[in-house]
Amino acid sequence: MRGLMRETELLPAHLILPLFVTGGEGVRIPIGAMPGCFRLSVDLTVALAREAWELGVPAVALFPALPDSVKDPRATESLNPNGLLQRTVRALKDALPGLVVITDVAMDPYSSDGHDGYLEGGEILNDVTLEILASMAVAQAQAGADYVAPSDMMDGRVGVIREALDEAGFTNTGILAYSAKYASSFYGPFREALDSAPRSGDKKTYQMDPANRKEALREVLLDVAEGADIVMVKPALPYLDVIREVSAHVDVPVAAYQVSGEFAMIKAAAGNGWLNEEAAVAEALTAIRRAGADMILTYFAMDYARQYRG
Ligand code: PBG
Repeated sequence: MRGLMRETELLPAHLILPLFVTGGEGVRIPIGAMPGCFRLSVDLTVALAREAWELGVPAVALFPALPDSVKDPRATESLNPNGLLQRTVRALKDALPGLVVITDVAMDPYSSDGHDGYLEGGEILNDVTLEILASMAVAQAQAGADYVAPSDMMDGRVGVIREALDEAGFTNTGILAYSAKYASSFYGPFREALDSAPRSGDKKTYQMDPANRKEALREVLLDVAEGADIVMVKPALPYLDVIREVSAHVDVPVAAYQVSGEFAMIKAAAGNGWLNEEAAVAEALTAIRRAGADMILTYFAMDYARQYRG
């Protein structure tokens, strides 16, 4: 009876699995605040993506964890055709051609300053950053990414990236824009995973104030006008009202990112025996769908797919 009346469906097909990639072979490094998540070398990343694919999870979002030795102020390593991310994309598309591979466009994994934009004199220079992001997006498309996902929150980046992709012939590469990305404390475990915390200051000059809802709509509408194919709200559970608002106002698909801190909270409580993990995961993800998200980035993608199969 409950099934007949159910308004919201949550399928593995709605989920995107974020993966942390590292160098070497057979490497599997645990992430302290994200139990069950690992930095994986390319070979193990392909193996895990295959498992996810077989469980019905159609997409992965890649984040490279790089040694400080290749980081610099301009994120030059992001353009290396044989860089870690590029090699991972090629390996995934070779092994699993149907898998949707999404790459992150932002400077922080490659930047010696740990910021998403170019830093000079203690300030992020928006327009200098745009050029770097556009080249980065083209390099990712060249490697075979299906979607590039700018998570940097610079102004005007979606338009510049769309133009650069088209000029380079990548008219079929899509843009998943992190449109309403808040300056959130819930990214803490992720920054540990990538060792990508800002070396100075914080990200409040480009990420949004958690107090703002109307601003999210402004950001989303700008990104749609500039050519975003999918818009995203991030984090997810503390921002359900924003997801609802955004999905009511745009006709492109809406994504939500259940971020590392949301994952860590459930894991920590479940680990202490204070929550039933399976039930909490299904409830949180269903709530995010109910709010209006078409797709959800979640570190629980494979766990949910397994429980869905029963
Ligand atoms: C940075 C980026 C962040 C996340 C995805 N891309 C962190 C940040 O903005 O500092 C966070 C994801 C998560 O916490 O799971 N480009």
